[in-house]
Amino acid sequence: MKPIQFPKTSEQAIELESNFGAKNYAPLSVVVSKAKGIWVEDLEGHSYMDFLSAYSAVNQGHCHPKIIQALVDQAQRVTLTSRAFYNDKLGAYESYMCSYFGYDRLLPMNTGVEAGETAVKLARRWGYRVKGIPENKAKVLFAAGNFWGRTMSAISSSTDPSSFAEFGPFMPGFTTIPYNDLVALETELKDPNTAAFMVEPIQGEAGIIIPDPGYLAGVRELCSKYQVLFLADEVQTGLGRTGKRLACDYESVKPDLLILGKALSGGVLPVSAVLANNEVMLQIGPGEHGSTFGGNPLACAVAAVAIQVLEEEGMIENALQRGIQFRAGLEQIQSPSIGEIRGKGLLNAIEMHADHPYSASDICYRFKKLGLLAKPTHGHIIRLAPPLVITEAEIEQALERISEAFHAADLSLA
Ligand SMILES: Cc1ncc(COP(=O)(O)O)c(C=O)c1O
Repeated sequence: MKPIQFPKTSEQAIELESNFGAKNYAPLSVVVSKAKGIWVEDLEGHSYMDFLSAYSAVNQGHCHPKIIQALVDQAQRVTLTSRAFYNDKLGAYESYMCSYFGYDRLLPMNTGVEAGETAVKLARRWGYRVKGIPENKAKVLFAAGNFWGRTMSAISSSTDPSSFAEFGPFMPGFTTIPYNDLVALETELKDPNTAAFMVEPIQGEAGIIIPDPGYLAGVRELCSKYQVLFLADEVQTGLGRTGKRLACDYESVKPDLLILGKALSGGVLPVSAVLANNEVMLQIGPGEHGSTFGGNPLACAVAAVAIQVLEEEGMIENALQRGIQFRAGLEQIQSPSIGEIRGKGLLNAIEMHADHPYSASDICYRFKKLGLLAKPTHGHIIRLAPPLVITEAEIEQALERISEAFHAADLSLA
C-alpha cells in the first residue's frame, strides 16, 4: 500500500469523504485545514469566522496556546495508563474540578453522551439503593426536545424521529415530559419509582430553547420535594458558553449530578465528566462502570488548563458582554424572514419564519460566501455560537456579514 496522500484542494477532500465516508452528516461545503481563535481557514487560504465552535466544544478558541502546550507537554510524558493503574494527573484534576464546581467527586469519561449514560446509571443505582425503588422499576424523566447524543439510551429518550426512527427497540424506563412545564414534571415526580430528571438548562440542538425564568429553580425545588435526582446536562451550555460558569447559575441552582463535556478540553480531545456528591457517586464501586480512556493523563492535563484559562482570561465575562452586544446588533437587522432573536451569552439563535421563501440553510451558504460559518438546527433556526474569545470589533464584523447575507437574500426575491 502507498502512504496516505492527504488532499491538496477542498474539492478533493469533499470528494474523498463523499466516496468513502458514511453518510451520517451533511457538512457545509468548506474544508477547514487550520484554525486559530475564532478564525478557521480552508485549503485555498480563505478565512472564516467560526460561529459554531464545534457545537460549543471550542469555547476557549481554536488551538489555544496554553491548552496546546499542555497537550504537547503531557503527550511527551505519558498519554494513557488505563484505570488499572494510577496516574499523576487524574487526582489533582478531580480535586480542582470538585472545588471549582462544589461537588464531592468526579467520574471522568470521554464524550458527552458517555457522561449522560454515566449519570443515568448513577441515578438508577441511587434509586435502588437509597430511594428504595424496586429492582428494575426505576424511571428516568427527560424533556421533550432533548438532545444528549446518539447512543441507544440517548435516542431512547429522544422525541426527534430523525434520531430514533427505525433504530428500536428502545431502552425501557424512560419517560419524556414537555420542556419548561413544572406541572407535567410534578405529576411524574409523584411516582415513587421516579429516580431522576435529566434536563438541559437551555436546549441546544432543539434550537436554543430558553425556559421561562424560574423553571430551573422550580425543577430544583420539586426534585428535592419528591426525592428525585436533578441531572443537569450542561455539555453544551456549561463552561462559560451562556455568560456564566454554568447555565444553572442564572437561577443559582445546584443540580445533584452535573454533566460536562465538549469545552472541558477546549475542543482538543474528547473529555467529559459527571460530578456528584458521595451519596450518589459512591453507589458505584470497582468493576461496575468505567472506560479505557476515561481519566487518561493526557485528557486530565488538557482539561485542567482548559478550565483555568476560561477564568484567567475572562472568557466567561466576555461571553456575557459580547452576547449582549451581539443580540442588540442582530435586533437591528431588518428582514422579513427573521422571526425571533434569542440567546444567553454566546449561545444564540435566529429563528426564521418556517414558511419563508428562502431557508436557514440558504442563509448559511450566504454566510459562508461572506466568510462566516454557521449551521441551521431544525430547518429554520440558525445557531450562532462563536468561541468565547471573540472581541468587540469581531462581533461588529460578524454582524455586518450576517446583515449583508439577509439583505442579499431579500433582494434576490425582489
Ligand atoms: C446537551 C448535549 N448533551 C450531550 C451531547 C453529546 O455530546 P457528544 O457528542 O460529545 O457525545 C451534546 C452534543 O451535541 C449536547 O448538545
